[in-house]
Amino acid sequence: MQNIAVLASGNGTNFAAIARAIKKGSLKATLALLVCDVANAKVIARAKRAGVKTMVIQGRECATKNDFETKIIQRLKEEKIDLIILAGFMRILSPEFVREYKNRIFNIHPSLLPSFKGTHGIKDAFEYGVKITGVTVHLVDEELDHGPIILQEKVKIEENDTLESLEKKIHRVEHSLYPKAVQLLLEGKITIQGRKILTATRPGQPTH
Ligand code: GAR
Repeated sequence: MQNIAVLASGNGTNFAAIARAIKKGSLKATLALLVCDVANAKVIARAKRAGVKTMVIQGRECATKNDFETKIIQRLKEEKIDLIILAGFMRILSPEFVREYKNRIFNIHPSLLPSFKGTHGIKDAFEYGVKITGVTVHLVDEELDHGPIILQEKVKIEENDTLESLEKKIHRVEHSLYPKAVQLLLEGKITIQGRKILTATRPGQPTH
């Protein structure tokens, strides 16, 4: 069984979705660690309730970004972590960190990348007036919101949607898409060909 660490900074609904998928057996991995960089983030309480080990490390407690990341990597190694799942982790990992876990770091982004990168993907798409937005799960590379895409799912923006109703729709999709993307990798169904990721599903068959 592979060991997963989730890195998160906020509410932690994606953390909870991963934990639920593991509990019900649709995601076959061990949730070995939560790393959180915000002392009072809701995700910490969620991890404690789920019985998941927690490392809280705030950037300002560390002299440099390198120091911050070295401490995290040290703990990831102690816990024998195989895969890292970024779930609303509002920090950009250094190229050194990304290389250390090459093709083993996932991110979820609340838009159809490469549109609306950055920290306000839902709001930016809503304000831009697009009719279709969505969710992207991708591998992390050295550029922001850029690595090869594993799965994407669209979400329609209806004329009566508000930012709040759109957020709800996006989060609902995130919570089912993220565990599925991770499970594809765990099952060896992902082949990386440069920017393209092939998922070993037959043509015409949905991957999610
Ligand atoms: C999610 O919507 C995720 O897509 C987004 O942060 C939210 C975290 O929610 N991530 C980004 O915007 C990354 N650029 P959560 O804490 O409830 O899982």
